[in-house]
Amino acid sequence: MKVSIDMTTKPEVSAHFDEATNTISYIVKDPRSDHCAIIDSVMDIDYAAGRITFDHADALIAEIEARGLTLDWIIETHVHADHLSAAPYLQERLGGKIGVGEGIKVVQETFGKVFNEGTEFQRDGSQFDVLFKDGDTYRIGTMEAVAIHTPGHTPACMVHVIGDAAFVGDTLFMPDGGSARCDFPGGDAGDLYDSIQKVLSLPDETRLFMCHDYGPNGRAIRWETTVAEQKRENIHVGGGKTRDDFIRFRTERDAQLAMPKLIIPSLQVNMRAGEIPTDKDGRQMLKVPVNGL
Ligand SMILES: [Fe+2]
Repeated sequence: MKVSIDMTTKPEVSAHFDEATNTISYIVKDPRSDHCAIIDSVMDIDYAAGRITFDHADALIAEIEARGLTLDWIIETHVHADHLSAAPYLQERLGGKIGVGEGIKVVQETFGKVFNEGTEFQRDGSQFDVLFKDGDTYRIGTMEAVAIHTPGHTPACMVHVIGDAAFVGDTLFMPDGGSARCDFPGGDAGDLYDSIQKVLSLPDETRLFMCHDYGPNGRAIRWETTVAEQKRENIHVGGGKTRDDFIRFRTERDAQLAMPKLIIPSLQVNMRAGEIPTDKDGRQMLKVPVNGL
């Protein structure tokens, strides 16, 4: 589908890197008003101790309050498997609507089964305020944002294009990092290749903001690149690599990857829009399905 891109609108983007999970959260501000959105927040967990804290989210809140901004949206590019979202904590303090792709329903169906969630776990995405369909638009102050469905890594993945900036989630990593894995349930390497082509069809000078960076080969952490740079240099899809090359490479590589350290708590929390599940007595509690993943 063709989306209309307004390259003359240049949102102010502030990045917050989480060292524990290599995640980058963003505050995206309208240059013409005090309105902003948060993209992909992080709630801190010490999984070994079962302890949750909010240092990362508090840093986002402190910046928004110090700058006197109004938070319109709390966006999840997808159901993350490597960190927990802080969306409800942010919403309680700053307001804003929590939005995710409508593919969340597929993710909830899959992992509702994996975690043997009862009928009280709704699989209709109703834990979120807004479910985006491909091409849906929404406003951040005076800016129009568009959500583009980019499945492959997960069924719910969306890239959010806001003016000349695109928040790519886990479709792409920096050019020397390549792309994200496609072996989670509902993932598909061919779909990811097609989704990446959608991102690469944006104007060459579009600023691309990554959700993760692991500093390959010892380089300093980076999170911003451009469409032109990805087309030229991305080690998995750049320089004219074919769809078949990508599928072959991605499938072989994924077979060797270990599960992300926080996948078990992340999925249980993130499929509930960042709420921690509770047991029958209302205590916050996480499960570990043995040999279930
Ligand atoms: Fe991810």
